[in-house]
Amino acid sequence: MNNFTSISDVENPTKLVQQVLSIKNNSTELNPGKDKSLALIFFNPSLRTRMSTQKAAQNLGMDITVMNIGEDAWNIEFEDGTVMDGSIQEHIKDAVQIISGYCDILGVLTFANLQNREEDYEEKVLSKFLEYSSVPVISLESATLHPLQSLTDLVTIAETKIQKPKVVLSWAPHPRKLPQAVANSFLEWMAQTDADITLAHPEEYELSEQFTNGIPVTHNQRRAFEDADFIYAKNWSSYSNYGQTPVVTEDWTITQDKMDLTNHAKFMHCMPIRRNVVATDEVIDQSLVYKQAKNREYAAQAVLQNILENL
Ligand code: CP
Repeated sequence: MNNFTSISDVENPTKLVQQVLSIKNNSTELNPGKDKSLALIFFNPSLRTRMSTQKAAQNLGMDITVMNIGEDAWNIEFEDGTVMDGSIQEHIKDAVQIISGYCDILGVLTFANLQNREEDYEEKVLSKFLEYSSVPVISLESATLHPLQSLTDLVTIAETKIQKPKVVLSWAPHPRKLPQAVANSFLEWMAQTDADITLAHPEEYELSEQFTNGIPVTHNQRRAFEDADFIYAKNWSSYSNYGQTPVVTEDWTITQDKMDLTNHAKFMHCMPIRRNVVATDEVIDQSLVYKQAKNREYAAQAVLQNILENL
């Protein structure tokens, strides 16, 4: 593995899931990251991604530097040819070449601006890191994908040992407008498994066909839940009316009475989760969410380990 920015960087996703489980279940004294350094660059807040990736790197013996753009570092200009006579101090071309000179692996967390679909789906920020970095790049989440989360989600589902599970990705309410990254990425990775996946969302919340191709879609949440083994909840804003949040009159919060329609389904969410908005306390408190969050550490460790092997 060189970069890790989407499932297309992974030669064998099933093998990678098994490697994550092997790391989790067999503690090792090896130190493949000794004398190697990891820089983590954040354009947005994070709890799980930040801590799990740092812990993973520590497990491998790596040194870690974390930078919050706009707080610890200068604000960054992304346009080529700009006359930089305003308030922004540093150009992405310079910043990435310099950061990558200080580390062996560079992780970056970017976020959709939800203003301009073309810019977000072209991965305007991540693509600059890939263009200018002299070392491998890991996406810690991008404008349209969250591959470390999706790898973790596959691992968490695999751990249950449920064969050919029925998995429902359900839209759920949220007070803010959110990107489609987790949902896009989840569908992309689940397509590599033997799961029977259904997408449930209100009208006007269709995802890009690039990710939904061939997946059954319903606007009837209750019907989708029937016989499901896993309910994966996530909010996202509109793709077609980009970044907008059309009014939803039906109640899409995941409640226990909806979970009772399932085959004793396990509830999943990437977190952070708005309690009693996305799902009720009762649903969250019986869910796999803490297991998912813990598995982020092993997923990041497997990805780092694979990249370290190729340095
Ligand atoms: N799931 C996830 O990426 O969480 P954070 O935003 O806290 O990193």
